[in-house]
Amino acid sequence: MSREDILVTGAAGFIGFHVASRLLESGRSVLGIDNLNDYYDPALKTARLASLAQHPEFRFVELDIADRAATAALFAEHRFSRVVHLAAQPGVRRSLSDPHAYVDANITGFLDILEGCRHNDCGHLVYASSSSVYGANTGMPFSTEQNVDHPVSLYGATKKANELMAHAYAHLFGIPCTGLRFFTVYGPWGRPDMAIWLFTAAIVAGKPIRLFNEGDMQRDFTYVGDVAEAIVRLIDTPAAADPAWSSEKPDPASGAAPWRIYNIGNHTPIDLRTLVRVIEDAVGKKAIVELMPMQPGDVHATYADVEALSAAVGFAPRTPIEVGVGHFVKWYREHYHV
Ligand SMILES: NC(=O)c1ccc[n+]([C@@H]2O[C@H](COP(=O)([O-])OP(=O)(O)OC[C@H]3O[C@@H](n4cnc5c(N)ncnc54)[C@H](O)[C@@H]3O)[C@@H](O)[C@H]2O)c1
Repeated sequence: MSREDILVTGAAGFIGFHVASRLLESGRSVLGIDNLNDYYDPALKTARLASLAQHPEFRFVELDIADRAATAALFAEHRFSRVVHLAAQPGVRRSLSDPHAYVDANITGFLDILEGCRHNDCGHLVYASSSSVYGANTGMPFSTEQNVDHPVSLYGATKKANELMAHAYAHLFGIPCTGLRFFTVYGPWGRPDMAIWLFTAAIVAGKPIRLFNEGDMQRDFTYVGDVAEAIVRLIDTPAAADPAWSSEKPDPASGAAPWRIYNIGNHTPIDLRTLVRVIEDAVGKKAIVELMPMQPGDVHATYADVEALSAAVGFAPRTPIEVGVGHFVKWYREHYHV
């Protein structure tokens, strides 16, 4: 394998699949890794891999990033030119019932990726953070200039920890690190534990959907194609030290080290009741709605300020929810023959 290969971790996952596909389409070669865990149906992960395997420049290794020796050996063998790190234990709700899964994948696993980059001179590490780092903040839109020291889930805390760990490695070893705070990503090949999938599946099957906080919640739903586009642009723009950064008045999103944080969101919060109407229109059927209380760990609203991303790569997500949901419902019907 050549020095130009890009490592995509979590390549069998939702966002990893789309990022790997876009990189392959743009002529790059990609090595994907994933442990194919059963947080949701592994058949969906193997189906994504089967699609990626049609490309001659894609290779896959089944590997758990929390396996220190195996991850170190992979990095030493390949000496990747770029690393897109998307493998993680996602989801807010499960972090209440299975906290150790989050520490294994998101903390130990993240350290193994940093160590791989440190010892093998990777040119740029782009990794997934999350809007969950905004936690208890309510000032909208969420901006990377805000303090994010008040997570309301362990998941959010692990993502904030990733940003801090990346800063330490950027400072100590000069590894360019870019952290991306994703805002509720959706689209074809999506995640079965997330609202757009759950609502679509239930409406198609004539089953009830559950609207938490009685539907009084907003999310900045972001189309996965836009996320992949932003990552493909960012990957060749390694984070650089910010010459204007001041230790007296520290900007939370940049540093004297080659380290940057960006929001990736659609800058358009959508009310859950509106989302249900959009899915009903796309499916052509009314939902049966059950109103539920707020869930522990959930936040009332998310809304991304994306000016910094736009300035950095000349692009920010903008797919309207009706268009993105249309693409998802079409894919869902075709994939499951419903
Ligand atoms: N989808 C979203 O809305 C969203 C929002 C914010 C942040 N994120 C983050 O984006 C990244 C990608 O999320 P996604 O939605 O594609 O989730 P996903 O679960 O579909 O993908 C993650 C992949 O990582 C793999 N994985 C998990 N633990 C692993 C381990 N220890 N070793 C190797 N592989 C492992 C899983 O098998 C899975 O295929 C994650 O870091 C997630 O926390 C996603």
